[in-house]
Amino acid sequence: MNLTDVWLFGYGSLVWRPDFPFDEVRVATIAGWSRRFWQGSTDHRGVPGSPGRVVTLVEDPEAVCIGRAYLVDNANRAMVLRKLDFREKGGYSLRNIEVTFPENGGTKAGALVYIAGPDNSEWLGAALPDEIAEQISGSSGPSGNNDEYVKRLAGALRDIGAQDTHVFEIAALVSSLSSRRGEG
Ligand code: SIN
Repeated sequence: MNLTDVWLFGYGSLVWRPDFPFDEVRVATIAGWSRRFWQGSTDHRGVPGSPGRVVTLVEDPEAVCIGRAYLVDNANRAMVLRKLDFREKGGYSLRNIEVTFPENGGTKAGALVYIAGPDNSEWLGAALPDEIAEQISGSSGPSGNNDEYVKRLAGALRDIGAQDTHVFEIAALVSSLSSRRGEG
C-alpha cells in the first residue's frame, strides 16, 4: 500500500455494488455508529415527492457497524471519488473514520465513509419499523425498486456475518409485504 492509497468503507449499497476499481476488499467495522434506514432517496430508490428509504450511519456510542472496506489505488483515487461523490450526492458527505479489520488481526486504518447527517435536505429520520417497511415497499426510483435495495443489503450483510437487527427486521417486514402482494 502506498501512503496515498485510500481505504473506503461501505455499509449500504457499497457493500454489494461497489462499481469502482479497487486493489483489495476486507470485512471492516467502525465503532460508535449504527446503520439506519433514516435517509430519504429521491435520486436512486425513490423520486421527488415520493422518497424511498436508504441507509445512513447515526452516532451511537455502544454500537459497532460491519461493512466492507475497499483499498483504492492512488492512481484511481480522484476518479473513484468523483464517481462516488456523484452517486452519493443525495445528502451524503465524506468523513474520515477509523476502521478495524476483524479478519486481519484487528488491525486498524483510517477510511473514507459517506454519511448522510440529520441536517441534509433528504433526511427522514426515525420511524416505526412497519412504517419504514411500508414506505420502502411502495417506492422505486432510477436505480430500481427500494425493496430490492433492502434485499440485497440484507443478503450481503449475512454473507459477512453481520448481526444487524434493524436491517434484518426491515428486510423481513418488506419481504412479508411483498409476499402478501403476491410477489413472493
Ligand atoms: C454506503 O454504502 O457506504 C453509502 C450508502 C449507500 O450508498 O447505500
